[in-house]
Amino acid sequence: MTALFLPMSNKFYLTTPIYYVNARPHIGTTYTTVVADAIARRKRALGFETWFLTGTDEHGQKIERSAEKAGLSPQAFTDKVSAQFKALWDRMGLTYDDYIRTTEPRHTRAVQKLFALLRDKGFIYKDTYTGQYCVSDEAFVDVPPGAPCPDCGRITETVSEENYFFKLSAFERPLLELFESQPEFIQPATRRNEVMSFVKAGLKDLSVSRTSFTWGIPVPGDEKHVIYVWMDALANYITALGWGSDDTSKFEKFWPTDLHIVGKEITRFHCVYWPAFLMAAGLPLPKSIVGHGWLLFEESKMSKSRGNIVRAETILEVLGADALRYFLLREIVFGQDGNFSFDALVQRYNSDLANGYGNLVSRTLAMIGKYFDGVVPAPEPYPDSDHATAGNQVGKQAYLSERFPEIAEKFNEEFEKLDFSRAVATLWGFISEVDVFITAEAPWKLASSENELLRYQLATVLYTAAEAIRILTALVYPVIPDAAAKVWAQLGLGDIRTTDLKNLAWGGLQPGTKLGELGPVFPRAEKDAVDRMKQIEEENNSAAAAAAPVAETPKVAETPTAPAEHPSRLKSALEGLATAISESTSESAAITALETFVENNIGDGAAEAAPAGPAYPERSPEITIDDFIKVDLRVAQIKVAERVPKADKLLRLEVDLGYEQRQILAGLAETYAPESLVGRKVVIVANLAPRKLRGFESNGMVVAASLEGGKPALAAFIEDIEIGARLK
Ligand code: MSP
Repeated sequence: MTALFLPMSNKFYLTTPIYYVNARPHIGTTYTTVVADAIARRKRALGFETWFLTGTDEHGQKIERSAEKAGLSPQAFTDKVSAQFKALWDRMGLTYDDYIRTTEPRHTRAVQKLFALLRDKGFIYKDTYTGQYCVSDEAFVDVPPGAPCPDCGRITETVSEENYFFKLSAFERPLLELFESQPEFIQPATRRNEVMSFVKAGLKDLSVSRTSFTWGIPVPGDEKHVIYVWMDALANYITALGWGSDDTSKFEKFWPTDLHIVGKEITRFHCVYWPAFLMAAGLPLPKSIVGHGWLLFEESKMSKSRGNIVRAETILEVLGADALRYFLLREIVFGQDGNFSFDALVQRYNSDLANGYGNLVSRTLAMIGKYFDGVVPAPEPYPDSDHATAGNQVGKQAYLSERFPEIAEKFNEEFEKLDFSRAVATLWGFISEVDVFITAEAPWKLASSENELLRYQLATVLYTAAEAIRILTALVYPVIPDAAAKVWAQLGLGDIRTTDLKNLAWGGLQPGTKLGELGPVFPRAEKDAVDRMKQIEEENNSAAAAAAPVAETPKVAETPTAPAEHPSRLKSALEGLATAISESTSESAAITALETFVENNIGDGAAEAAPAGPAYPERSPEITIDDFIKVDLRVAQIKVAERVPKADKLLRLEVDLGYEQRQILAGLAETYAPESLVGRKVVIVANLAPRKLRGFESNGMVVAASLEGGKPALAAFIEDIEIGARLK
């Protein structure tokens, strides 16, 4: 990613998306907020006047329905869930400067002003529209009736309304010019390409009001309409700064935003609609919008509707907030999807935090405590500078001190590029270097020596290690602030938040500084940490299921137009999928449509949606299209089929793929007579690694459905398919 522009002024304004209150926070939603918090802390330490905004998105039909399901009024419901988000952020010590709720009067009034302004300027007009509306995404989508949403795969509703429209089509060119002239406007490049192809495919005017529900901000002067929830939500970035109020000083100071951080599925709203609204209003545009990847759990996007969420609270309870922050920033490559697992979390915690940073701090400071009464020693000049060992020591201290600018520069560069994983790895590389230095110098041996010269060395070695820790701690503070604050206090340096990162230089640790009270920074995780976290999650899930405290995102079956019969729902979903794929403007949009189709129609979402019908199989781990494409499925013709001696189930087949002949051993003997198979066209997995069965090498696998009792039924085509044809 491009480095964030260092702003001309000394201010930095950054935002997270505002979270829907239809579901409680989980570590997927925590991810965006943790990233923002790390950036905000670093900017503050660099001396920027920083404004970090987060909050909750509380209007719309989705929320209205969730409230109804929870048996609460929308206001009571949103109050409750919004408070849960805020309480979690506070418990995690996240340093947001403002928390906006879209139900607050400061927001609703300003959104009405924005709407009126756009209408007065001629960018909003009234018209009648009939189309498919996705309640989950709160957006009209271009699909046939009954088809699922191309973005999220949920069934859409046919809505015919007199609506207000925003002239989005007028912004096609200006938007493309913006993307071309400011490549850093959308990051990373993959997201930029997706958005650009979306705009290039043509922009239609956007419906920006609804009359079919009331939980929203009324259109000024036409109260039976409520303002489109995305216009309402996006505006939070300016209404929170006081735009449209009597006091616009904060808006004038901080707008435009330096960085909007959003998940990849909502980059389009932020990179197309939002700049178009701002252009229409005559307001400055954001400097940069970055679309990050998803946190996956058990290989699929962590989300409440998939039922695969992990709550941050569980991790806080067992390992603490820094463990979660460290994992999210180190393990997940920002911009890409990344996996979460309890095992990986504990492994990272033990190896990097407990054994790495924590151990370095403990052993160094304990030695200063023991050999120098807890006072930082001076790196003494050697009385005999010609002495070989002393010269060696000076050289070693110089080596680490000279490494510092290099490390700091690399870290800064990587962090500015939002490459947190690399940035953190750079610091941990330095931790290893300091560890190697201490082990090689063996201060405990120097301390036990009678040789006075070695006492000088001891002071130098421990000063050097302590100074390296100070530097590391100042740099790593945005990532693990609680631990960094503890270490800072143990170094006798007071409050880390007052540190000036801009002027961080080697040698800043004053000899004579009295260390604070020492104590473990990252105690090793208990052996049962993974099991404990899993158990807490399980207990919480069963308690939540019993109490059903928070209503879910509406599922397909809840929408009025969702057919009751599962097969017909699946049929229309399939038709919709075909349309969505053929109309996708990018490969990743097609993949998203496919993934969400699988999630909603084959995974557990579909199981909940189907009111009656067959029992649904256990969900398999989700794969990406890239995984699927690795499987080389081909049409082959059986040329020879015969029983395998002493194997009741196995048949030895010779199949023709057109380009080669293969031998395959298949468990078909109990169902198919060998002679009935000769000449038959089947589907095989052509790139399965060879394996030996009963002394025969089998090169591939024949694809069959598994019926009751495990009986196979061969996959076949109605059409006559050429042999060798690939299934994709
Ligand atoms: N309310 C809208 C945003 C409006 S902003 C003007 C919304 N809300 S959300 O609650 O669904 O998502 C908020 C953010 O959480 C998004 O950036 C989304 O990507 C992020 N995440 C939700 N689940 C996530 C993961 N499993 N992994 C990473 N981020 C995730 O969209």
